[in-house]
Amino acid sequence: MRASAVDAAPKGQDLADPMLPRAARVLQVDKETHDTFTLSLESGNGNGQTSFAPGQFSMLYVFGVGELPISISGDPEEPGRLVYTVRSVGKATNALVTQTAGGTVGVRGPFGNSWPMTKARGKDIVVIAGGIGLAPLRPAIYHILRHRGDYKRLIVLYGARTPRDMLYRKQLAAWAYLPDTQMLTTVDYGGLSWRGNVGVVTTLFRHVRLQPNKTVALICGPEIMMRYVVRELESRGVGPADTYLSMERNMKCAVGFCGHCQLGPYFACKDGPVFPLSRMRDWIGKYEL
Ligand SMILES: Cc1cc2nc3c(=O)[nH]c(=O)nc-3n(C[C@H](O)[C@H](O)[C@H](O)COP(=O)(O)OP(=O)(O)OC[C@H]3O[C@@H](n4cnc5c(N)ncnc54)[C@H](O)[C@@H]3O)c2cc1C
Ligand code: FES
Repeated sequence: MRASAVDAAPKGQDLADPMLPRAARVLQVDKETHDTFTLSLESGNGNGQTSFAPGQFSMLYVFGVGELPISISGDPEEPGRLVYTVRSVGKATNALVTQTAGGTVGVRGPFGNSWPMTKARGKDIVVIAGGIGLAPLRPAIYHILRHRGDYKRLIVLYGARTPRDMLYRKQLAAWAYLPDTQMLTTVDYGGLSWRGNVGVVTTLFRHVRLQPNKTVALICGPEIMMRYVVRELESRGVGPADTYLSMERNMKCAVGFCGHCQLGPYFACKDGPVFPLSRMRDWIGKYEL
């Protein structure tokens, strides 16, 4: 089995100038929901290999429009392609999701650190995601499934606004049949045909029995959601050093030069985006520092 890049987060695309985008061909664009698409780009480093760690992001540059940070959402051990799941919310994201196969976008990165996949070995992993927050967590899930013997239970709690906003529905449904794996989903508004849970993601905790001393939690979603999730985990005894959050901030350089992504003493781009709660407690939900 090929060694994964886990925890040895590759920095700045192994080039001398991390500010220089390289051109990458769009291989495929798949519709996930009405506003969210998954783009596969040729990894383009010449050797067909893809080198990133779960939790890292790239700066994607749409020529003539702009550059933006997007998490890598694919399988870290799938060679040859870099995969991103993008929700169209404005000019740059819309320009990305309307790309077609054969087009070209600029890529810098991968940047940032990774989910603590090495530290989490031998433990239960609870993945808690809200909305597009499932995208940066999917590589961690791929990693766990590829190295199943290294981890105990995998529990995924995923909340979306409505059933039509849910990402990777077929994949989540398939994973739910795997041994030692629990996939729980919820929506804020169900509609007539939804038979599943309705309510915020924390309502799913009642279906889960956590072993606090043997659990590592990985969380990504809107910060208000992460606040409530943290509270729930704490009430169940999961410690701040075992609770990890991915923090998004406006980013420009992605390499610690410009200060746009500052979170108190940290830069989200180079010290994060993944932080243990023990370091982030004072900064969740604070945008203007
Ligand atoms: C480390 C990191 C990883 C990210 N990963 C992903 C990803 O995998 N997929 C994805 O779709 N997006 C991701 N984002 C968010 C993405 O970068 C923004 O949505 C994008 O920059 C918006 O650009 P725009 O020009 O399309 O929209 P803009 O015109 O800049 O903004 C449109 C609207 O979206 C809001 N908005 C902008 N940025 C964000 C944000 N970060 N979070 C919430 N609302 C925002 C703005 O306030 C505004 O209301 C990530 C951001 C960071 C920092
Ligand atoms: S984006 Fe420039 S310092 Fe982080």
